[in-house]
Amino acid sequence: MRFYLTTPIYYVNSTPHIGHAYTTIAADILARHHRQRGDDTFFLTGVDEHADKVARVAAEQGLTPQEYADSIVGAWQELPLRLNATNDFFIRTSDDGHKRFVQEFLQRIYDNGREDIYQDVYAGWYCVGCEAFKSDDELVDGKCPDHGVEPEWLEERNWFFRLSAYQDALLRLYDERPDFVLPQFRGNEARSFIAGGLRDFSISRATQTWGVPIPWDPDQVAYVWADALVNYLSALAYAPNTGAAGEDLERFWPGTHLLAKDILRFHCVYWPALLLAAGYEPPRQLFVHGYLIIDQQKISKSLGNAIDPLDLIDVYGADAVRFWCARQVSFGQDGNVTLDSFQERYDRELANDLGNLLSRTTAMIARYRDGTLARSPGPGAIDAEALRAALVERLDRFDITAALEGIWQAVRRLNQYVEANAPWELAKDESKAGELDAVLYDLADGLVAVAVAVSPYLPETAPRILQGLGQPADLSLDRVRAQTAEAAVGIEAASPLFPRVEEPTPA
Ligand code: MSP
Repeated sequence: MRFYLTTPIYYVNSTPHIGHAYTTIAADILARHHRQRGDDTFFLTGVDEHADKVARVAAEQGLTPQEYADSIVGAWQELPLRLNATNDFFIRTSDDGHKRFVQEFLQRIYDNGREDIYQDVYAGWYCVGCEAFKSDDELVDGKCPDHGVEPEWLEERNWFFRLSAYQDALLRLYDERPDFVLPQFRGNEARSFIAGGLRDFSISRATQTWGVPIPWDPDQVAYVWADALVNYLSALAYAPNTGAAGEDLERFWPGTHLLAKDILRFHCVYWPALLLAAGYEPPRQLFVHGYLIIDQQKISKSLGNAIDPLDLIDVYGADAVRFWCARQVSFGQDGNVTLDSFQERYDRELANDLGNLLSRTTAMIARYRDGTLARSPGPGAIDAEALRAALVERLDRFDITAALEGIWQAVRRLNQYVEANAPWELAKDESKAGELDAVLYDLADGLVAVAVAVSPYLPETAPRILQGLGQPADLSLDRVRAQTAEAAVGIEAASPLFPRVEEPTPA
């Protein structure tokens, strides 16, 4: 199967916070899982540069928008690297390949013979935070409820996209493909927005210079969303080393988009319509996740509660951050988080449940069997086939939290298996040598299956578990099965997977 997965491209008007890391982590878990299933996978992330708010920050710093974007992009490129994300490409909307593609894309719509692009004057309230016009009923006390600021009055002659002409086509799409947008309640939200009637929107800006020039009217630049959404196609057309020009577009489109609810309309309504107008297939699927909220407040730089994901990685490591993001909040729902929960999960689940399990298992093999793991299966400690089936079924629904819970049940079962079979007692009795071998094998075997299953979540830890048990490094999903562990020699008591971390004192 082919699997093309994207994150939103993030605005570079400030540096990344944990909310951005959250989507990138979730996407990487899904991409790694699909690769271990053997799917032909392409994973894209990157940054959105041509926003008015980016130009404004640049001006405040006395830089051109491009100079400013060049100065901050490193922080954004570092994010996937430090999170251990396996994106195949990192797109910048200021890349020449992207800009060219946006022009071709808009030109295709302009030339589609249906007058889907026309000129008109638009006047309305514009929220720079959202980079979108707001109708009166979307404002609360005259302010944008998401950004808490008064929008600005904008009036100019622009190029418009005839979104209203796509209402029926979009409704048909939603009706024919009930899983087009997941979770279901988000799909319903998008569908009712469409059913409520669609207003055309302007796809150009006359007063801005920072952006992609409109090919047939270079005095105007493309509206940031008409530029940014196209990244999902353009990257496939020019990303280096992924195939001959255009081949990846053919190979990977239509793709799957991951995003949060803040940008649902752009992705679930505008984007499929733009694609249809330009003669491309609509996306394969969209998953809209919830918002991380810290201490009941939206994460924002101005509120001063924006956790820097790199600080957390410095203290706990990338695997722990990935684990916490997948586990702490049920994926798809909003979740209020606190940093205390981070330390608590690290100690109890990573260090104790998983880390100690490996330490104990390897220590017993070293001590009672001189480091040799015999291929001597007992009844089995976990049901690895059921674990694999649940993983596939849950991750196909993007439920990274439920899939991880399934793995953790197996971890807990392995710990119970140790307690229930007390290998230290068996070791005292020579006549129980066969029983001891079987218990040690079942434990090692369960741990191998767990390591492979959890590898999309804990990509640094999983190979350490396999190595500690003298097993091949192969992470393909079909190793999540009974009696997957091979006989091995030279096993030593493993050092802790998750060493004790002192809770950092808040700055
Ligand atoms: N540039 C646009 C997206 C264009 S995509 C063609 C944009 N950028 S953004 O920097 O504001 O990123 C928004 C996205 O970041 C959300 O949709 C979500 O994926 C992620 N998140 C930002 N804050 C978040 C939380 N507090 N919680 C969860 N995800 C968050 O919108």
